[in-house]
Amino acid sequence: MDDLATDTSSGETDDLAGLLGDQVWRFGELFGDGAPVRCFFSPGRVNLMGAHLDYNGGPVMPMAIDRGTLLVVRPRADRRVRLRSTLAPESFEGELGGLPAESSGRWSDYPIGVLRALADRAPEACGFDVLFGGNLPVGAGLSSSASICVGTALAVDALWKLGLEPLERVRVALQAERGFVGVHCGIMDPFAVGLARPAHVLWLDCKDRSFEHLPLDTSEVRVVVADTGVRRQLAKGAFNRRVAEARLAFDTLSSYAPGATCLRDVPLDVLEAHRGDLTGTLEHRARHVLEEVQRTFEARDALRAGDLAGFGERMSGAHASLRDHYEVSVPELDCLVDAALGHPAVLGARLTGAGFGGCVVILARREYGDLEETVASGFEDRFGTRPKVEVFSGDRGPREVRVPWSESA
Ligand code: GLA
Repeated sequence: MDDLATDTSSGETDDLAGLLGDQVWRFGELFGDGAPVRCFFSPGRVNLMGAHLDYNGGPVMPMAIDRGTLLVVRPRADRRVRLRSTLAPESFEGELGGLPAESSGRWSDYPIGVLRALADRAPEACGFDVLFGGNLPVGAGLSSSASICVGTALAVDALWKLGLEPLERVRVALQAERGFVGVHCGIMDPFAVGLARPAHVLWLDCKDRSFEHLPLDTSEVRVVVADTGVRRQLAKGAFNRRVAEARLAFDTLSSYAPGATCLRDVPLDVLEAHRGDLTGTLEHRARHVLEEVQRTFEARDALRAGDLAGFGERMSGAHASLRDHYEVSVPELDCLVDAALGHPAVLGARLTGAGFGGCVVILARREYGDLEETVASGFEDRFGTRPKVEVFSGDRGPREVRVPWSESA
């Protein structure tokens, strides 16, 4: 596998370079002058197919995006750690030897979870100051949490010279989010962020963790993201409830599917034959999962065959199922999807991430005319606010980035 750890060559977008310059300057304001800083970038992701399948053992098709988390880091002579963010007011300060054992509900839980997972590997390691920032909206379904966790693992790995493989950083990020933060998330997000490759979609089979990079022909299509602006505080609880419901559905259906180890393994005809054993809600949850597994395999076939319209159709099918069976959509997301699907250049659209708010991802033909305006005004007419509608490009994965004005950093 490629080593994605460090790329100090240029090639960052102007937007990222500008943000980085501001963030380095802000770092100096917050933490004072001192030794040179090091900077890291970790992308976010959109998931194109395989909605809510990762924790059900199914296949997923995410793509890393050129929006993400920037970390400006400076090692310290002592074992103190100070965490600040340009995106949230709360900060954290503590000793590496005495990190909190319980999460606090604040953003700093994510990097602390990573530090707790790595601290044993370098008992004498130095502390550091970090300023987190970047251009990834938080809580918008673009995986800001995995972006922070993988980015922290990368920075700590570089500072402490741990020599972690990309897959190990992915594992650490997962451990932080599940074990410390307490979200029962699947494996998709840190894999999507940690193993990204430009102009490729990741095919990840969450049952055996095998993966493959599939090219997405960006000369034909663009990935457009529209943000409802809705951020649900309840999202973590509602997400964990879906995980529990899927588990309950599996517990019932597995007795009719010998050898099944996760809901993905249960054949659809077993659900049809035994739906009476499930409550209405659990039947809907299982139906989404089993049909989405089929759709995701079909989407892979379509992508491999260069049938981007067929791929887009599966994306729109995923959204309908997330709305009607998994019930994780909200009217704002449905409005954006409907507005997009009414436009002739659109091949498919669906909510991205867990749902309950956040963003919609749209697959559109490259020449898409007035799509951004159509989607934004459709939403504004109904909800009175204008959503951000932007083209996202793929990303090449977590890396060290050069401070714009310094060759030596
Ligand atoms: C969130 C979780 C992922 C995945 C998606 C839904 O983003 O973090 O693991 O379950 O929801 O597909």
